[in-house]
Amino acid sequence: MSTPHIESKKEEIAPYVLMPGDPLRAKYIADNFLEDVQMVNRVRNMFAYTGTYKGKRVTVFPSGMGVPSMGIYSYELFKFYDVKKIIRIGTCGSFNENIKCLDVILAEKAYCKTYFDKLLDDGNDNLVEASIDLNRKIMNAAKRNGIDLKIGEVITSDVFDLYCDDKEKYRSNYPKRDFIAVEMEAYGLLYIARKFQREGACLLTVVDSLFDDKNLTIEEREKSLNEMIKVALESMID
Ligand code: HPA
Repeated sequence: MSTPHIESKKEEIAPYVLMPGDPLRAKYIADNFLEDVQMVNRVRNMFAYTGTYKGKRVTVFPSGMGVPSMGIYSYELFKFYDVKKIIRIGTCGSFNENIKCLDVILAEKAYCKTYFDKLLDDGNDNLVEASIDLNRKIMNAAKRNGIDLKIGEVITSDVFDLYCDDKEKYRSNYPKRDFIAVEMEAYGLLYIARKFQREGACLLTVVDSLFDDKNLTIEEREKSLNEMIKVALESMID
């Protein structure tokens, strides 16, 4: 079996999937966290890996950037590979003064001003919720491992906000809610998960913040990313 964008055999994809944006991060997770690893996709250089974590089979499959790319991969994984749970593990920015660089965020909901819902299935829903059950498992895993999570609503944007000419104007395009992060894929995943009645969740590491202009070292970034990866993997063995 294969789909327009995935060449894996059905049995090569585990029911639990971690989705970083970047294929090299998928390789990093496979190299550093998984055992008995097999590469299961090469199409478009979206290198995906299936292995085991503490005995449980997990696939790490990159989403690429933006809702259209996330929409394609999550759709094909849920529909054609019967995947049960996908956790996005990505990076984000923030313009919330309570959020600092390297905070790890768990999305309760993702807001997106978009035509994705209308085009896909005549939907009309700007705000989509993550799986409550999967989020509970993620919170438990964080607690067990002493990792602090900031939990709240995130904005999924079609534009990398740092490139906007007028950032005040950019922000005024969104409702006045207490969003804790901005990124570019969560809404796509949560919308598709709900469509197929599967579980979707999103963990994010803050890499730029309006209220914290510190330049991150490679080691700091890696430590925070490792914590996020650990929480995601541990939530799957709950
Ligand atoms: N905005 C949107 N997506 C992002 C950002 C950001 O500031 N940082 C990492 N992904």
